[in-house]
Amino acid sequence: MSLLQWKDEFKVGIAEVDHEHQELIGLINELHGVIRATGDLDEILDTLGEIYAQISAHFALEEKMMRKTRYPAYAAHKEDHETLLDDLRDIMDDVEDEGVLDETQLSVDLNRWFSDHFQTHDAKLHRSGHG
Ligand SMILES: [Fe+2]
Repeated sequence: MSLLQWKDEFKVGIAEVDHEHQELIGLINELHGVIRATGDLDEILDTLGEIYAQISAHFALEEKMMRKTRYPAYAAHKEDHETLLDDLRDIMDDVEDEGVLDETQLSVDLNRWFSDHFQTHDAKLHRSGHG
C-alpha cells in the first residue's frame, strides 16, 4: 500500500468536502504508519474503525447536501457510498476474523475512492451546483 498524497486534481471545489477529503487522506497515512511501525492488528483495526467512522460521517454530509438541493443523481451517488463502506467493512472483517489485512485490496479500494469517486460523483456534485 502506498502513501496517499493530496493532489489538486482531487479537489471538487466545495470547501467543506475538500477539507474532509484531506483529513481522510491524513488518517489513511496514519494507518499506513501503523502498519509499517508495529503491524499490530488491534491497532490497525482501531485505525480502520476511525477511518470508517470518518468516512461514514463524510458521506452523510454529502448526502445531506444532495437531499437539500434535490440532487438528481442522488441515488447513484449514495449507492457508490454504500459500496465503498461495504468494501471497507469487508477488509475490517478479515482483520477481525482471520487476523490478516489484505493490503492489496485496501490499496485497490482506496484508489477507487480517491481517484474514481472523488473525480466522478463528487466532482459532478459540484459542477451541478448542488454542493
Ligand atoms: Fe461522494
